[in-house]
Amino acid sequence: MDRFEYRGGELFCEQVDVARIAEQVGTPLFIYSLNTARDHFYKIRDAFAPFDPLICYSVKANSLGALLAALGSEGGGADIVSGGELFRARRAGIPADRIVYSGVGKTDAELDHALKEDILMFNLESEQEAEVLNDLAGARGTKARVAVRVNPDVDAGTHEYITTGLEDNKFGVPFNDALAFYRRLAQYPHLEVVGVDCHIGSQILSPDPYVEAVGLLRSLVEDIRSAGISIGYLNIGGGFGITYDTEAPATAREHESALGPLVKDLGVKLITEPGRFIAGNAGILVTKVLFRKEGRAKTFVVVDAGMNDLIRPALYSAHHRVEPVAPAGHGEEVVDVVGPICESGDFFTKNRPMEKVERGELVAIFSTGAYGFTMSSQYNSRPRAAEVVVDGDSFEVARKRETYEDLVASESVPK
Ligand code: LLP
Repeated sequence: MDRFEYRGGELFCEQVDVARIAEQVGTPLFIYSLNTARDHFYKIRDAFAPFDPLICYSVKANSLGALLAALGSEGGGADIVSGGELFRARRAGIPADRIVYSGVGKTDAELDHALKEDILMFNLESEQEAEVLNDLAGARGTKARVAVRVNPDVDAGTHEYITTGLEDNKFGVPFNDALAFYRRLAQYPHLEVVGVDCHIGSQILSPDPYVEAVGLLRSLVEDIRSAGISIGYLNIGGGFGITYDTEAPATAREHESALGPLVKDLGVKLITEPGRFIAGNAGILVTKVLFRKEGRAKTFVVVDAGMNDLIRPALYSAHHRVEPVAPAGHGEEVVDVVGPICESGDFFTKNRPMEKVERGELVAIFSTGAYGFTMSSQYNSRPRAAEVVVDGDSFEVARKRETYEDLVASESVPK
């Protein structure tokens, strides 16, 4: 898949032998292919080229500095949802005028931080947020550029935890209230309306929900302009789906052919916020088999990565391909691949056929470049995994494995 390939019975990431990295860095370990991430970035950039899009990579998917820096130097911007993500994006060299800020719960300190950095725009999610931002911008003697995140009430046909554009989701401003909201926004002295924004969900496989949402947004842009307010940007959010198992998601070109006609003559700069599309299949989680455990009903393969490293199977029943790094030809068996954590939800596969693996062998969990490490924790006091980036024939530890000292570094025990 992408730049992860078996050659001579061994898994490679680009030109580097995965087992060799694991031997040097240890497990559990995330390995990212920078050229895969770049390829996916180019796919969107090239498909949407007629619109000269600003591709604001969604930092929450994978916020590793090395990855942010690589995308930033390709002309990528950042979609952020916190002051921490703003800090990371700026530190990785992403210019502030390529940063957009979404999120229903931005604190005053976060808003002020982003004003100070002079980011491209704030995607407002409520009237109260507009008031607070207006006051903060006034206190700084500046104006904040804003878009409204509009909730078009479109079903993205995806997992209920990652759908965001429905009326009963907490996100955005209802489509039917948006025009009135824009009229009020135009009255705020320290806000400058510049765009319209939406994000309808994640892991969306078909262009149809986008067509529905962008069709609505298009008419809204026209109405807002008729009210004498100018709109220069249309942000279609993130959500382009990827292949984890057998899904056949629309390609960037297919999304463009469906959406292009709707935006063509609108005279806006297009913004997209892809996260998973860029990072998802650019990463694997490498783990080592600790034990084989023959239960009464089934066989468990216990590995040294847990749900603290990758929570997607537990949280969304997500499917990730799991395969040996160097299949030894022991034949297939049906197993559960599980982690060491004290929870029944700590599994990577359930009743799934897999090439037999023995104690000490390495296993790769695929498509873990997005929402893998960023959703990881230290649950069970497990130091977080190391992260390695591969670029062609070289690799580098881009985030060291945490130590026990790291676990307690910010703690103090009262005397
Ligand atoms: N823009 C906004 C405003 C978002 O909320 C998100 C994701 C994105 C862009 C990027 O979406 P993407 O292109 O990656 O689909 N943890 C879940 C996914 C949660 C997505 C949250 N918002 C998972 O592991 O599937």
